Amino acid sequence: MKGVFDQDKWSLVASELKAENLKLASYDNTLIPLLGDIRGKKILDYGGGPGVLALALKRLGADVKEYDIFPDMIKEAAKKIGKKNVYHTIKQIPKNHFDFIICNLVLCIVPEKEVENIVKNIHSELNKNGVAYIGFCNPKIFNINESQLDFRFVTDRKYEENHNYKKIKKEGRYEIMELHRPIEWYEKVYKKAGLKLIDKIFTPEYTLKGHKIKDFIIFKLKK
Ligand SMILES: C[S@@+](CC[C@H](N)C(=O)[O-])C[C@H]1O[C@@H](n2cnc3c(N)ncnc32)[C@H](O)[C@@H]1O
Repeated sequence: MKGVFDQDKWSLVASELKAENLKLASYDNTLIPLLGDIRGKKILDYGGGPGVLALALKRLGADVKEYDIFPDMIKEAAKKIGKKNVYHTIKQIPKNHFDFIICNLVLCIVPEKEVENIVKNIHSELNKNGVAYIGFCNPKIFNINESQLDFRFVTDRKYEENHNYKKIKKEGRYEIMELHRPIEWYEKVYKKAGLKLIDKIFTPEYTLKGHKIKDFIIFKLKK
């Protein structure tokens, strides 16, 4: 089984990420309507992976750019949205520029210091009315051992404690390490970077084996 235990190993599962239909149905279909009419809007997909969402947003008429730390991901994204629409380094990303910055399922896989860096970068890249949507697996379901998306090796750690646990993704059948941090921990990081929390949106609830589950949380933030 493939395993992704480092942030620079995500290219190992680029093809699996492209085929994540369940995740798309749950996450992207919650996120896209939040953006409203995006024709002509300047959007950055930060950590956009193989560019699936970036392409969907481009088709809806947005001026979409993508940045990802991993060159193979950027290559994949460039095939979909065009070479001139991808950034290879942080320095290439313009400051005070974007109407929307999307950052999906990135903060939950990087170390704490990197979460702070990414959030600071997002703050500086948004224009003055810009809105960021930052989302990842819902920390509140950290102790549920199966969701529609994955099987989890639940530990005895508490919700309030930052800790790691292993998951097997049902789509793609690869292992990842989830870095659990409570919602409140992320809220402190946003505040420290100067981002105001506007809303917390969750993907639709369903019941599996007696548990009520909302897979993802999306934070809406402004400068
Ligand atoms: C789970 S994937 C999510 C991809 C995409 N956003 C999605 O929702 O399908 C995580 C992505 O974050 C990228 N990544 C990891 N660390 C990063 C960092 N420090 N800055 C930018 N991208 C990063 C990985 O290369 C990978 O493409």
